[in-house]
Amino acid sequence: MHKFWRNGADQEHHLIVHGDPKAVGSEAFRTLRTNLRFISPDHQVKTILITSVGPGDGKSTISANLAVALAQSGQRVALVGCDLRKPVLHKIFGLSNTMGLTTLLTGNATLDEVVRPSKQVQNLDLILAGPVPPNPSELLQSRAMATIIGTLREDYDAVIFDGAPVIAVTDAAIIANQVDGTVLVIRSKQVPRDVALHAKDLLEQANARLLGVVLNGVLPQEQKNYQYYYYYQDNAERA
Ligand SMILES: Nc1ncnc2c1ncn2[C@@H]1O[C@H](COP(=O)(O)OP(=O)(O)O)[C@@H](O)[C@H]1O
Ligand SMILES: [Mg+2]
Repeated sequence: MHKFWRNGADQEHHLIVHGDPKAVGSEAFRTLRTNLRFISPDHQVKTILITSVGPGDGKSTISANLAVALAQSGQRVALVGCDLRKPVLHKIFGLSNTMGLTTLLTGNATLDEVVRPSKQVQNLDLILAGPVPPNPSELLQSRAMATIIGTLREDYDAVIFDGAPVIAVTDAAIIANQVDGTVLVIRSKQVPRDVALHAKDLLEQANARLLGVVLNGVLPQEQKNYQYYYYYQDNAERA
């Protein structure tokens, strides 16, 4: 994924696919959308977890922009905030985080109450993470979470889970085990190879179906160095 905007306080989080659909970065998200569609002819990939090695790799940014790109193609899309320790989606969409997945999982709200249609983007529903709970892993591992994943899979064409990092806590692995596929975001030049491979091992131990890797933060002038600056493969052994 390109390094697609200049640093600046006002651009801390950016919905480029919505705000600037003609930008090169937006095209990259549309290509990602297309590649995900063709990844698996035999196995319908509707629920997708976006995870990475650590915080700040771009999971939330990529989840949000991918969800918008999917919604723009006419699919009914849900975007779910699953990084319960570092909720960010509400900032990207300009909402308050008072209600969300944690409120739902603790029985303090119903699914209908926490689903918020995006004001900016048609066909896109948001389930924010909600207030930070004391026991994120326990909530994600609950039977209620499994039921929600199943319900959303029925109700939408695509469900994108903006996940926690895969190293240090088990939160991402818990979700990876329950979705159709997982995309691992690697922040270009910041993640050593052995750490990336360890993340892949952790996902495989959780029986995740690794759809591929998104290399994030590649400068446009560096792209010629990568035959594919992000790539996908159906065989996790080759990742
Ligand atoms: N390709 C990119 N180019 C420029 N900035 C990016 C890119 N990807 C992510 N960022 C920025 O990096 C920061 C962390 O991104 P975020 O999506 O919140 O990461 P994570 O969810 O993995 O913690 C944000 O300020 C985001 O805007
Ligand atoms: Mg995040």
